[in-house]
Amino acid sequence: MRKQIAAANWKMNMTFQQGEKLLDDILGVDIHLKEHQQVIFAVPFPYLLMTRSEVEDEFNYEVAAQNCYHKKSGAYTGEVSADMLHSTGVNYCIVGHSERREYFAETNAMLADKVNLCLENFITPIFCCGEALSIREANTQNDFVAQQLKESLFHLSAKQIKGIIVAYEPIWAIGTGKTATTGQAQEMHAHLRSVLAGQYGADVANEIPILYGGSVKANNAKELFSCPDVDGGLVGGASLVATDFVEIIKALK
Ligand code: 13P
Repeated sequence: MRKQIAAANWKMNMTFQQGEKLLDDILGVDIHLKEHQQVIFAVPFPYLLMTRSEVEDEFNYEVAAQNCYHKKSGAYTGEVSADMLHSTGVNYCIVGHSERREYFAETNAMLADKVNLCLENFITPIFCCGEALSIREANTQNDFVAQQLKESLFHLSAKQIKGIIVAYEPIWAIGTGKTATTGQAQEMHAHLRSVLAGQYGADVANEIPILYGGSVKANNAKELFSCPDVDGGLVGGASLVATDFVEIIKALK
């Protein structure tokens, strides 16, 4: 079975102490993940090591950075490289979240560089794609997301792309409480998988986890995750509440 993943994206929320308590509360609940299930906490940079030590003894719990820089190293004050992340034991990194694309002008080409640097440093990129409301209203979302994959991922070999997690996050559903319907999610995830299959073949495409993000909550996770091509979620707001995120983990297939 494909990996099924509940990924928490804390964004720029929580103090260090609040974060520690949140992790303690979540990890204090006895959830035995199955072999194919995984939980990933994408936390702010200063909390990565603390989070790594919190999950160290837990089966299939992992830590992710929320971003890395698109250059190897050098005079880029305030930035963090994939190599630095790797050297602290971080194995996952969100790449191309829509908030980074929008507020920090990240382009598909820059994201291709980030993906390369992550892979060179043994970090699994959680590659985000997704359309704005205007694109959905014009019904051009399928071409739009296909182009995002093409420009940031399709230079990779089949072997490399198997090391990627894709997250579909429609911008109109992020933080709005407006979730994609299961029909919309399944349709887009099947489309993304067919785009991947067109480039790499069905066997490769079938191995790549595609997560849904955008107002995933405790009360809709099970329904969303039941879609055949939805392999879990990338969760913002609801990942900051222990009881809610625990329910989301339990909703994994
Ligand atoms: P919300 O779950 O708050 O809508 O955020 C989704 C998201 O952006 C996760 O990366």
